Amino acid sequence: MDVAVIGCGYVGLVTATCLASIGHRVRGVEKDQKKLARLLEGYSPIFEPGLVGLLQEQLANGSLSFGASINEAMRDAEVVYLAVGTPSKPDGTVDMTYLEAAGKEVCDALATIQSDYLVTIVVKSTVPVGTNRKLYYSLRQNSKLEFQVVSNPEFLKEGSAVNDFLEPDRIIVGGESPEAFRIMRRLYDPLIKTEDTFLTMNWESAELTKYAANTMLASRISFMNEMSILCDAYGADVEDLRKGIGSDKRIGPAFLRAGVGFGGSCFPKDVAAMEHISRAIGHENLFVEAIQTINKSQKRRFVEKIGTKLGRPLAGSTITVWGLAFKADTDDIRESAAIDVIRYLLEGGANVRAHDYKAMDNMREVFTDQVEWMQDPVAAAAGADAIAILTDWPQYNTMPFRKISATMNQPVIFDGRNCLIRDVMRENGIRYYPIGRPVIESNVRVRSSSR
Ligand code: UGA
Repeated sequence: MDVAVIGCGYVGLVTATCLASIGHRVRGVEKDQKKLARLLEGYSPIFEPGLVGLLQEQLANGSLSFGASINEAMRDAEVVYLAVGTPSKPDGTVDMTYLEAAGKEVCDALATIQSDYLVTIVVKSTVPVGTNRKLYYSLRQNSKLEFQVVSNPEFLKEGSAVNDFLEPDRIIVGGESPEAFRIMRRLYDPLIKTEDTFLTMNWESAELTKYAANTMLASRISFMNEMSILCDAYGADVEDLRKGIGSDKRIGPAFLRAGVGFGGSCFPKDVAAMEHISRAIGHENLFVEAIQTINKSQKRRFVEKIGTKLGRPLAGSTITVWGLAFKADTDDIRESAAIDVIRYLLEGGANVRAHDYKAMDNMREVFTDQVEWMQDPVAAAAGADAIAILTDWPQYNTMPFRKISATMNQPVIFDGRNCLIRDVMRENGIRYYPIGRPVIESNVRVRSSSR
């Protein structure tokens, strides 16, 4: 099928590339000239495992092309994806500027295109409940052509987006037109393993499903972070708790890892949006408020723990932060726990050194010269009073801890992601503070007390 994808940001680019890879002819529209130039050269403006290879393959075989004109991309397109950004405004509501502008351009293009088939407009962006219905009726007023609007929320995780797209747990299509449902069913056919993975519903249910899924996942993390406080106090182990409850099929094991808090461009934004969706109908949603409050306090609590367990005043100490991205395998720092944690450390008077495998350039824009940027995690630890781990990059697990322990001012690690192996810490004489897990209190050897 001929497909246009408007907006080649994270979601749009993955969608365009993956749809091309399952046999469709896809044209991506990107207005940002710099990004467009990179895409035309076969480079991805975002880091996402597996994406560049697939992108270059599809460009080379002609299934995928890019341009700046919506009008051009929509020629022959049976399906038009709107995948522009819907960021949060400072008050927590969703900024619809880009979606409305793209919708209007699509509408103008529809008015000039003389096609004799039904065009299906697919809203991929995460939008407030009621948006698709509004969009449909406002576009209707401006076009005599046959078209339909469907909501098709995305469930892509950064770091595994290509795989999530090509092997979906479910595909949700919201709308009112059986014909549009049939078109979407045909479009996604190669990805549909069983009929119950293709779910159709009305617009509002599809829109709300997206927010509900992310809120539910975020709530599991906040729940486990609350449990980690009880585990710390009573000497229980939150990892055992995770296995203990996760093995109940009704609960399941996913998204139960305690840590320094969730971040990213999705959970914080979608939980905040859920609060607004509730407030809009006069309902005070205590559940989502709790998810947010717990997530915020988890970062503060982590720095307080550093302050009390460091064994020396935080002010003037050197803390090495390993991991800046909101999770491993991405350079994305949006709402990353590292932002709050570094800010609190600096407020407490600590000297902060930072390392990350992908996200250092992005974080440098936030903290500029307030932080010492380190290319090598081992060198970053030398002379430090503690290491704080904020992203679970697997490489941190295989660090030469004997050397690290010997070169630190005092071998202390605060593991905000519970990602290191406890025995390795013990063997190397490291005082180790995970989250919600028993502490390893080795005898700390302080190298110099001159500071
Ligand atoms: C999330 C959802 O998982 C996707 O299904 C959804 O499509 C996407 O948002 C979106 O709305 O676009 P993503 O933000 O890429 O995906 O990242 P996750 O893997 O979900 O992680 C989010 C945060 O939760 C990270 O900071 C991670 O470290 C944290 N997390 C995750 C935990 O603290 N504990 C866990 O057990 C899992």
